[in-house]
Amino acid sequence: MYNFDELAKRRNTYSYKWDVKDNELPMWVADMDFKCLPEISEAIKKRLEINAFGYSYTPEEYYEAFISFWKRRHNVEYKRDEMVFSTGVVPSLSSAVRALSNVDDGVIIFTPVYNIFFNSIRNNKRRIIECPLIYKDNRYEIDYELFSKYAKDNKNTLLIFCNPGNPVGRIWTRDEMERVAKIAYDNNVIIVSDEIHADIVRSDLSYIPFYSLSDIAKNNSLSLISATKCFNMAGVQASLALSANKDILKKFDRDLNTSECAEGNFFCFEATIAALNNGDNWLNELNLYIDNNFKYLEDYLNKFLPKLKLTKREATYLAWVNISAYSNDSLKFRDFIREKTGLFVSDGVEYGKSGEGFIRINLATSLSNVKDGLLRLSNGIKIWEEIN
Ligand SMILES: Cc1ncc(COP(=O)(O)O)c(C=O)c1O
Repeated sequence: MYNFDELAKRRNTYSYKWDVKDNELPMWVADMDFKCLPEISEAIKKRLEINAFGYSYTPEEYYEAFISFWKRRHNVEYKRDEMVFSTGVVPSLSSAVRALSNVDDGVIIFTPVYNIFFNSIRNNKRRIIECPLIYKDNRYEIDYELFSKYAKDNKNTLLIFCNPGNPVGRIWTRDEMERVAKIAYDNNVIIVSDEIHADIVRSDLSYIPFYSLSDIAKNNSLSLISATKCFNMAGVQASLALSANKDILKKFDRDLNTSECAEGNFFCFEATIAALNNGDNWLNELNLYIDNNFKYLEDYLNKFLPKLKLTKREATYLAWVNISAYSNDSLKFRDFIREKTGLFVSDGVEYGKSGEGFIRINLATSLSNVKDGLLRLSNGIKIWEEIN
């Protein structure tokens, strides 16, 4: 049994998330407050003992650990010659945009979605084509009609897909993904599937890798996976990109090397191998703990803040909460709550126009922090109601 009530002390450690004011409770950036799997720290300590931190190559054990983990947990057979190392999923996203589309092309995204997708498209001088998901009964679905319309436009050549969806919490079904894959294939749109959140899922559900779909899907896509997000070691910076399509993989690999994101740091291989080879029980227990945090949040909102609507969650540790009963200006609402109570959450509009009227709350923390956060939110809303 692992103790997820006991958190790592991250204040004043150059933590992007935790270097906030003393009275503030950060529930924004998508990393976790839990201590890592002990085997990860042990592996890093072993590397530390070498006491000279030179260049490393990617060992075969790194690829083998991914192949074995994904077979074990997701019943998918990845092949060694279809994989390349990348320093992160974000560097891979940007390389994929450059390698698989042209300047001025449109890149389609199903919004609300991870904010950095916007940057990767914009920074590489492509156009962002927002294809908003349909929001119904506190749940999101794909708008196939709109997607078809955008895919038919010859200038739109790439879809960046987020599976499971951050921040919408969906695990896309096989049928949904096959429909997307067929539309993309028929219209020469390549799919990049970002699967970094694959292992934080509700414990009664399982997630389906894009690579495990039909040949049409598999041969027209690049999948991005990593152990860093789900094992709380995002700062270690290591990931994998894979494709059954040799042409896609070759073009991608070329750009990744040109942008010098194809070599790992001194610690990342050992840490990743330790996580993937030893982390099954830790992940299972973590998922139960996060499920329980969501249960607490859901009960609390129903009882004390019924005007807030929690999006049905299938995956990720991110709660996507509809605040439109109070405000459609999520940035103003987020700043107000932070200023009045110290609770720091993410504002929804970061994830696309359709995120207006939502906030995102990171529940990968102790239950006692979740309780504290909800009390702060309640107090903040009381003050908001008095003023507005
Ligand atoms: C969907 C998604 N992709 C990628 C990342 C970051 O990837 P990396 O740290 O490997 O660059 C995140 C982090 O929150 C994310 O939510």
